[in-house]
Amino acid sequence: MADLDDLRDGSDFSAGSQAPTGFHLRGLGGQDWGMRSRLSRIFDPADGKTVMLAFDHGYFQGPTSGLERLDRTILPLVPQADALMLTRGALRTTIPAECGKGIVLRASGGPSVLKDLSDEEIAVGIDDAVRLDAAALAVQVFVGGEHETRSIRNMTTLVDRGQAAGIPVLAVTAVGRDMVRDARYFRLATRIPAELGAHFVKTYYVEDGFETVTSACPVPIIIAGGKKVPEEQALTVAYRAIQEGAAGVDMGRNVFQSEHPAAMLSAVRAVVHDGLKPDEAYDLFRQLSS
Ligand code: R5P
Repeated sequence: MADLDDLRDGSDFSAGSQAPTGFHLRGLGGQDWGMRSRLSRIFDPADGKTVMLAFDHGYFQGPTSGLERLDRTILPLVPQADALMLTRGALRTTIPAECGKGIVLRASGGPSVLKDLSDEEIAVGIDDAVRLDAAALAVQVFVGGEHETRSIRNMTTLVDRGQAAGIPVLAVTAVGRDMVRDARYFRLATRIPAELGAHFVKTYYVEDGFETVTSACPVPIIIAGGKKVPEEQALTVAYRAIQEGAAGVDMGRNVFQSEHPAAMLSAVRAVVHDGLKPDEAYDLFRQLSS
C-alpha cells in the first residue's frame, strides 16, 4: 500500500468526458467492456480488420489435407495471424498459451461429413470457454438447412451465455451442396444471425452484390476462404471482399494448402491491412515464396 505521509490534493479537473469515444467495429460500440476487449483481440483496433487463420475443419472432416499435423503446418503460421479459429482440442494440444492471439473457439459440432452436417449441437460449455480465455465462440448457422431451427437455437443460446460472460459469438453461415450461393441468400443468412444477437458473421464472397450483403448486416462480416484456388484468385477474392465492406477474412485451405503457406498468409495480410491490390499482393507472394 502507498504510504500516507504525502497525500496531495488533485488539481487537474478539466471539463469534458473521460470516456473514450467510438469503437472500431460496426454495431458493437454499445457492448460491455469485456466484450469489446475480446473483439479487439480479433479485429485490429488500428483499422478494424482481421486476418483469422481457420483450421477447425477437423471437427467434422478429420485430418484433411494440410491439417494432418497441426504442430508442423499451423504452428509456424500462428505469429502472422491476428486470430486463430480452432477447436478446443487443437488449442489445448497444440497451441502455446503464450501465443497472444485472439482465440475464436469452435463451439458447435456433432455430425461428420458422413451425415447431415446441419444436425449440430452446442459443443463447448461457457465455463470451459472462459477457462480457455476464448475471444469469441463460433457456431454454425444453417439457414435453409434441415436443422435450421436447432442451429439458430444453438446460436441464440451461445449468445445468451456469451453476453453473460462477455464473450462475443461468431455466426458462421453454412451452405449446403445444393444451395444457391448468391447475394440474396447471403443477405438472408447473415442478417438473421445479426438480428438474433450474433456479434459478427462469417459468410462467403459472391461476385454479384456482395456490397449489399455487408451493408444490410449491422455487425461486421468476415469471409471464409473456401476451397483451394490459385493464390492470385484467392487474393483477388480477399481484396474485393474488403473493398465491398468486409471487415476481414477467416482463411483456411487457401493458406494451409498453398505450396507456400507463410508467403500466402503474408500476402493476405497485405491485402487486408495494407490495401495492396491483388497483383501487388501476388507479386509479394511470389517474392516471399522464392
Ligand atoms: C469450416 O470448416 C470452418 O468454419 C472453416 O473455418 C471455414 O470454412 C474457413 O475455412 P476455409 O477458408 O478453408 O473455407
